[in-house]
Amino acid sequence: MMQGLIDQFAAVLGNQYVLTEDQEKAPYLTDWRKRFTGKALAVLLPKTTKEVASIVKLCASNNIAIIPQGGHTGFCGGATPDNTGKQVILNLKRMNQIREIDVANQTITLEAGCILQAVQEKVAAQDLLFPLSLGAEGSCMIGGNLATNAGGTNVLRYGNTRDLCLGLEVVTAQGDIWNGMKGLRKDNTGYDLRDLFIGSEGTLGIITAAVMKLYPMPISQWTTLVATDNIAATIALLNLFQKRANSLLTGFEMMTQESLALNEKHFPQMANPLKGNPPFTILIELSDHESEEHVRQLLEVILEEAFAGNLISDAVIASNLSQANSFWHMREHITLAQAQEGANLKNDITIPLSSLDRFINETDAMMRASFPGVRIINFGHLGDGNLHYNIAAPLGTDPKIFNQNNEKAIYELVYTQVERCQGSISAEHGIGQLKLDDLRAHKGVVAHELMKTIKKALDPQNILNPHKVVSI
Ligand code: FAD
Ligand code: MLT
Ligand code: ZN
Repeated sequence: MMQGLIDQFAAVLGNQYVLTEDQEKAPYLTDWRKRFTGKALAVLLPKTTKEVASIVKLCASNNIAIIPQGGHTGFCGGATPDNTGKQVILNLKRMNQIREIDVANQTITLEAGCILQAVQEKVAAQDLLFPLSLGAEGSCMIGGNLATNAGGTNVLRYGNTRDLCLGLEVVTAQGDIWNGMKGLRKDNTGYDLRDLFIGSEGTLGIITAAVMKLYPMPISQWTTLVATDNIAATIALLNLFQKRANSLLTGFEMMTQESLALNEKHFPQMANPLKGNPPFTILIELSDHESEEHVRQLLEVILEEAFAGNLISDAVIASNLSQANSFWHMREHITLAQAQEGANLKNDITIPLSSLDRFINETDAMMRASFPGVRIINFGHLGDGNLHYNIAAPLGTDPKIFNQNNEKAIYELVYTQVERCQGSISAEHGIGQLKLDDLRAHKGVVAHELMKTIKKALDPQNILNPHKVVSI
């Protein structure tokens, strides 16, 4: 029966786009963090939306589950199959066409398999900005960004992927094609189907194309690193920048001393240019549409005010593009340093800015008291209240054994604190298979039941990414 189905897949896609040999499938079976490995009946590589629809119809009539996959950079195991070997991976990388750049409408129409960085570069050549930006941009794909509602470093000014999307094309669990590809900024025609599919992590439909917003490219960007002593001062600094620079503020990222020490251990060339290893290093970016002088002067005035108010103790302004890039590389390499260091426990949480100081002080103290020697690799998009409050095993202990013994208790501690502060247990990375139980425990009974109702209505056979996000 399975060989018959594989032959039918090949009839739709062509033999070379149906991978069934172990060594061909291997690169698609393990997630970026190497936390999840599964098996697959086949890896399918469609080129068109019609091919995706035909594959879904074949899977539906044979009751075969489909795992949609883009760049496979997600952190929650959402794009990794289970261990049965009965699921198929549908990787969309061959659907990588930019269909249109509409300069007047400031939109781009593109397929789900376009790599994010390629999109940024393509529109930059026309002096336009696609503002979604994250460390995985060289490999992650627009379909994956939409399916996870990715955040990244520009959310403060431009919003999450959801905020950048105007239209979608989706293949449903029945193999129908929904064409919602209007590039409209207003459309109140009943339920918002687009927003239902965004962030659904491949459990409700397969995103094949999208219409995304573009923005004018700023004339000038200035980047600075500043040192702060505590979170209260850091929030006051953020509020000062919001007041003085308003929409020119495009980045406000936080790195703790412990995060940067880990970075320097694995990437010594990325030493912090600020003196004396401050408790908190803040990366701030302003983007301007007027002139270099305008933004540079504004930045200097705000920094002077921050020094005068004792909010910061040191500052380095990038003197050229390459130095600005080196500041960003330092920030983005923390994730890579953690990967080099070995298994770690990731947290991707949001806390209202007004509770952030309390959250960090209390949780740090509780964590260190309960797990002596633990390293708190806390960094993130502080301007959005989004912390990557990651936990690494004490030096000298085996991280895998430490995690096995303590993972449950560590997550419980963090999530209890998140709930006390009215935060969220997933800010931007999603749920996947990693946080399935956590979502059930923390979403609230009514919300969780509503999610199950939606899943059952759209995918009654449960063939789209089953047991990810929500189990029915
Ligand atoms: P995948 O990992 O392939 O898939 C992710 C989920 O989406 C899976 O559930 C999958 O089934 C589903 N999916 C994929 N494509 C489709 C589709 N076409 N239709 C339906 N479902 C689909 N994330 C952030 O939000 N902010 C960050 O700052 C950030 N930084 C990162 C830095 C690094 C170094 C790395 C490795 C990852 C980072 N991530 C970040 C996580 C990750 O890059 C994002 O979640 C990204 O959006 C995933 O895109 P992808 O194409 O790799 O998707
Ligand atoms: C980032 O912001 O760099 C990624 O989302 C982070 C992570 O490693 O948790
Ligand atoms: Zn992040």
